[in-house]
Amino acid sequence: MAGTGIRIEGLRKRYGSGDTAVDALQGVELQVAPGEVIGLVGPSGSGKSTLLKCLGAVIDPTAGRIVLGDEVIYDNGWQVRDLRALRRDRIGFVFQAPYLIPFLDVTDNVALLPMLAGVPNQEARKRARELLAALEVEHRAKAMPAQLSGGEQQRVAIARGLINRPPVVLADEPTAPLDSQRALGVIRILNDMAQQYQTAVIVVTHDEKIIPTFKRIYHIRDGVTHEEEGEGRVI
Ligand SMILES: Nc1ncnc2c1ncn2[C@@H]1O[C@H](COP(=O)(O)OP(=O)(O)OP(=O)(O)O)[C@@H](O)[C@H]1O
Ligand SMILES: [Mg+2]
Repeated sequence: MAGTGIRIEGLRKRYGSGDTAVDALQGVELQVAPGEVIGLVGPSGSGKSTLLKCLGAVIDPTAGRIVLGDEVIYDNGWQVRDLRALRRDRIGFVFQAPYLIPFLDVTDNVALLPMLAGVPNQEARKRARELLAALEVEHRAKAMPAQLSGGEQQRVAIARGLINRPPVVLADEPTAPLDSQRALGVIRILNDMAQQYQTAVIVVTHDEKIIPTFKRIYHIRDGVTHEEEGEGRVI
């Protein structure tokens, strides 16, 4: 399923109904090519997390279309039967707060998804350690999540989001707790991975350290997106 890209057309999300309804997304238009990393920037409450949750099938949009490669996965309603499989195999998440499983060590936290998908344990752990090495946390491979610093936890969460090589990766503030050098390191890894596996990556961020690296940026305000050319600074 690699190399598909994602296209969003007229996406809407209304929370609640009647007088208390909130129109969090009001016709979002957005497109990410295979191999591309785009930035999504906007003020608090503008709809960034709502958009990622809709794309990740964590919540249901209200209207619009989502196209993954050639496949329409949402068209005023989900067009795929198995949403759990969609979330597991085709969408990678890197959450704002890294929800690591407290009783699994770092390697198994990262290896869990491929194990669940049927990859033999040894192969899954080998893949996990390669990714941990790329993210410079391999020395913590046997530690438990509670023993890690905030930045280390974040990098483990990133490894977990990338391990199944999903065609789409959604990252919500992935570099917030990291220092400048590590933040740029994370963006470099996302770019390398996007190129190598033709992944489409959406990075929600306020982080001034990484914003100059994007070639294209979508600004979102009151649930509407505007595309802008970025600096695309090479790192
Ligand atoms: N479950 C919910 N029920 C009702 N309204 C919600 C719900 N979740 C979010 N909202 C509202 O939808 C709008 C968009 O929220 P969202 O969380 O997407 O913003 P955001 O851009 O991610 O903000 P932040 O930068 O603060 O994380 C806000 O007005 C918010 O109050
Ligand atoms: Mg948010």
